[in-house]
Amino acid sequence: MIVKVKSPGRVNLIGEHTDYNGGYVLPGTINKAINFKIFKIKKSKCEVKSESINKTLIFDLNDFKKSKTHWNNYILGTIDFFLNEGNKITPFKCLIKSNLPIGSGISSSSALISGFSRAIIELYNLKYDKSDIVKIVSYVERKFIGLKGGIMDQFTINYGLKDNLILLNCSNSIFDYINFKSESIGIVLLNTNVKHSLINSAYNDRVNECIIAENLLNSHYSDKRRLANYTYDELNEIKYKLNLTVYNRAKFVICENSRTLKGAELLKQSNFQGFGKLMYNSHQGLKDLYDVSCPELDFIVNYTLKLKYVLGSRMMGGGFGGCTINLIEKNKINIFLKDISNIYLDNFNKKLTPINVSIADGLTYKKTN
Ligand code: GLA
Repeated sequence: MIVKVKSPGRVNLIGEHTDYNGGYVLPGTINKAINFKIFKIKKSKCEVKSESINKTLIFDLNDFKKSKTHWNNYILGTIDFFLNEGNKITPFKCLIKSNLPIGSGISSSSALISGFSRAIIELYNLKYDKSDIVKIVSYVERKFIGLKGGIMDQFTINYGLKDNLILLNCSNSIFDYINFKSESIGIVLLNTNVKHSLINSAYNDRVNECIIAENLLNSHYSDKRRLANYTYDELNEIKYKLNLTVYNRAKFVICENSRTLKGAELLKQSNFQGFGKLMYNSHQGLKDLYDVSCPELDFIVNYTLKLKYVLGSRMMGGGFGGCTINLIEKNKINIFLKDISNIYLDNFNKKLTPINVSIADGLTYKKTN
């Protein structure tokens, strides 16, 4: 039997750093993906080969440990999960090809773990569903990568639907599809090609600061809630108990959560103009209150402010580099990309990589004998 899996990346229109705070997010899967082909082999070791990054990992199912490289750990951590649960896995070969840029904030790592999990599930006929894959990704991130990540990426990858965004409540995984299709408005990602080496530890710092704020709120108010579900007024009532950094983080999360709900309503009414303004507000908060932006991201967002045909722009994903997401009038995209790429190169002496995306289906798979 051969199993083929296509595991896409994701964009997030709004609702950044709200997922691990029990808030709302508004992501969708894109037309760029990692492809897997997996089959059993009569050898003693497993072989996982990625053509795109020119890497081969060979390991023994009975004797492997955490590696020093993240990529290996995504694979090994996934296998560790299935073996720990008592599943019988025999040697296999897995070939991977991808057109998903790595480390640019469009979830190549969740796409890798989700797709590889699905490949293993189907090859060995294991009894796990989409919601289990969401948990497997969290297991691998926490145990093998050391990242206290939320569920947005893996949820989106597994539940994504063409031409629809997912309004996901991350405190209970209840979600709604919101149609996102426009003849005139397109989504363009601009990859700054900036990669922050300490991104995981900076991300975990934000998670920990939010936990401090949530605990203080929960010790003040009797109905215990996740941080995103408090109001700005409730936060201000205990402002005196929080240091400024923790207060700023909490303020951002609470405001971003309201923006996400408001944004979803605006999109339902096809009010892209109004939605775009919320994207700019989101960026401002990510920069000033959450402190996860960088000069390159700020430069691009600022540049678009004066362009009428850019409806909204903001940094996307964990931050400290990666991409901005831009809502642009389709007939102006080419001219915009030409201008911004030249200006970016002049200012930062780095290449800007544009990625045109559309909202496509989530993870799919096929089995053949
Ligand atoms: C990363 C994480 C997500 C989410 C975003 C920020 O992409 O993987 O879970 O927290 O950052 O919104």
